[in-house]
Amino acid sequence: MNMTPAAAPPFAKGLVGVVAAQTALSSVDGTNGVLTYRGYNIHDLAGKASYEEVVHLLLRGHLPARAELGALDQSLRGNRGLPQPVLDHIAAAPAGATPMDVLRTAVSMLAYFEAETEDISVEATLRKGLRLVAQFPTIVAAIHRRRQGQAAVAPDPALGHAANFLYMLHGQAQSDLQNQAANLYLVLLADHSLNASTFTARVAASTNADLHAAVTAAIGALKGNLHGGAAEATMNMLLEIGPIEQVDPFVDRAFETKRKIMGIGHRIYKSGDPRARHLLEWARRMEAAQGRGANYVDMALGVERAVLRHKELYPNVDFFSAPMLYYLGIPTDLDTCVFATSRVVGWTAHVIEQYNDATLIRPGADYVGPKAQSYVELDKRG
Ligand code: COA
Repeated sequence: MNMTPAAAPPFAKGLVGVVAAQTALSSVDGTNGVLTYRGYNIHDLAGKASYEEVVHLLLRGHLPARAELGALDQSLRGNRGLPQPVLDHIAAAPAGATPMDVLRTAVSMLAYFEAETEDISVEATLRKGLRLVAQFPTIVAAIHRRRQGQAAVAPDPALGHAANFLYMLHGQAQSDLQNQAANLYLVLLADHSLNASTFTARVAASTNADLHAAVTAAIGALKGNLHGGAAEATMNMLLEIGPIEQVDPFVDRAFETKRKIMGIGHRIYKSGDPRARHLLEWARRMEAAQGRGANYVDMALGVERAVLRHKELYPNVDFFSAPMLYYLGIPTDLDTCVFATSRVVGWTAHVIEQYNDATLIRPGADYVGPKAQSYVELDKRG
């Protein structure tokens, strides 16, 4: 029988233009700069919804009624604690370990102590996801405290999610402005369609790997500076630029030498990232409240203008996150962990969608290596 090979589908470098999943979680309209969570425009959630409401929206499918929110909130507050071996791991991590490495290992370790690790049913995954959402701030705060040479601070069950996170980081309750800013950040970063870390989580889940395995893999993908690592890279860039007068020469030099400006550009948003304006607004408020003459927001705006003189590229979510997290007292190399603290809910919701989809994700590859080689015995090779 004459078998004609089926025509290979076209190679899509970087999977550009490939639609690899269906999702009812978030939609990203890159042309018009619109982001929705389950149909709610991010502009309507920003500054109004709590992160806890968004967790309910993404995991349970609707904005919670008051009693539902109360139940979810209680569950989060009750699950913030960490097993002692995980706290010990954080305390014993080598001084040079990056916060993302410690976070990734801590989350992987949590699988040992999670009673339902191997249960990948939707209900068990929802329960595990809520526990992870509750535990992430405790892990990240403990990592930060250890690096400051300080003991971890126990969660305060009297505080909401964002306020408790800042409390555990800094060892004292923060102002309403700080707490609201942290909440806004967590709301804006909670989900973003099929970004690289979420895709990674879905690939792992598509093999029926458990939630902790998928989230551990996602943390690995988030770490790079083309993804979650961009806020840290942006803040380091602003610090490197120095005085504001250096903004234009810095950007000109970067374009001359083909150095990328971090926090700028996006694979999907080509006319601007809708989250950026909220982060800009809140970074400004926090800068004003600091009153210490820092001007990283003006510097960032200067970078944005200077970039536009070279190319039509706009700030992405990480650009104004950088000064905002800085003004929350978060050291730059903790930024990506804070991103993960929000995104863990999106990863969980996508993992559940992927389990429901029940299809292994396994794309093909365009083989470009040598063909038809003949095997030569070891002792006959030159
Ligand atoms: N600084 C300078 N030039 C940039 C740029 C940046 N941040 N982002 C894109 N460009 C340039 C590219 O070099 C390319 O130029 P060319 O046409 O001369 O080759 C052009 O703009 C198109 O960009 P492209 O690389 O095709 O976009 P992409 O969709 O592959 O990449 C990013 C998107 C996010 C990876 C990219 O914009 C980037 O690296 N940004 C900085 C890192 C960052 O902020 N990441 C967080 C994303 S949320």
